[in-house]
Amino acid sequence: MRKVLGNLTYGLYALGVEAGGRKNMCIVNTAIQVSSEPAKITVALSKNNFSHDLVKEAKKFSISILDQETDREIFGRMGFSSGKDKDKFEDFPYGEDELKNPYLNQALGVLSAKVTDMVDVGSHTLFVGEVVQSIALKEGTPLTYTYYKQVKKGTVPKNAPTYAAATEEPKKQESATKRYRCEVCGYIYQENLPFEQLAEDYKCPVCNAPKAAFKTVE
Ligand SMILES: Cc1cc2nc3c(=O)[nH]c(=O)nc-3n(C[C@H](O)[C@H](O)[C@H](O)COP(=O)(O)O)c2cc1C
Repeated sequence: MRKVLGNLTYGLYALGVEAGGRKNMCIVNTAIQVSSEPAKITVALSKNNFSHDLVKEAKKFSISILDQETDREIFGRMGFSSGKDKDKFEDFPYGEDELKNPYLNQALGVLSAKVTDMVDVGSHTLFVGEVVQSIALKEGTPLTYTYYKQVKKGTVPKNAPTYAAATEEPKKQESATKRYRCEVCGYIYQENLPFEQLAEDYKCPVCNAPKAAFKTVE
């Protein structure tokens, strides 16, 4: 099943939400349009995510549409850390839609929605929202999940619904060379140059974490 599910394809987005003055954002691959009259979109959020609780409370959210040029640190900041532990917008510029949800200034565009239905689907809740505002920001090529994985070498955390299907085991150790995994985003360094020989200012190609964020894996 894991292999077949791995062939499903998605776009990538940043979901923004404001509830009681608290703003948060997370990366999602589950935003899709499901109706035209009225225009409705859905998004599936893990019950473990802070964004889930905020959307449930405020009954609104924004979807910023990411493009292929999206800064890799956006994934580290929004997709691999939780707003439960920190303010993701500290020292980080953002826009605000008419529902007061934050959005990414560097996105292709933004859809803002009011939640009309919530469906408990297991580990995740499916939020259905009616689009009440759309903002066009720039031209570009939308980022697909496949491009993120294959070209940007992106990984997904446990709370993404696709986690099991997308998670590759590190290649079997063929030599005595140690494997290193980024503790922030899970990226596994598997290039030919031994990790130890990389420059000290090496940064994770997925989330921009420093070399020190890498730990050896068995
Ligand atoms: C590529 C990618 C896709 C993701 N897709 C989803 C998704 O569709 N639903 C979800 O709940 N989490 C998804 N996540 C995980 C959340 O972005 C992540 O758990 C985030 O840290 C949650 O932050 P929060 O606790 O502040 O809401 C995804 C992460 C990545 C990197």
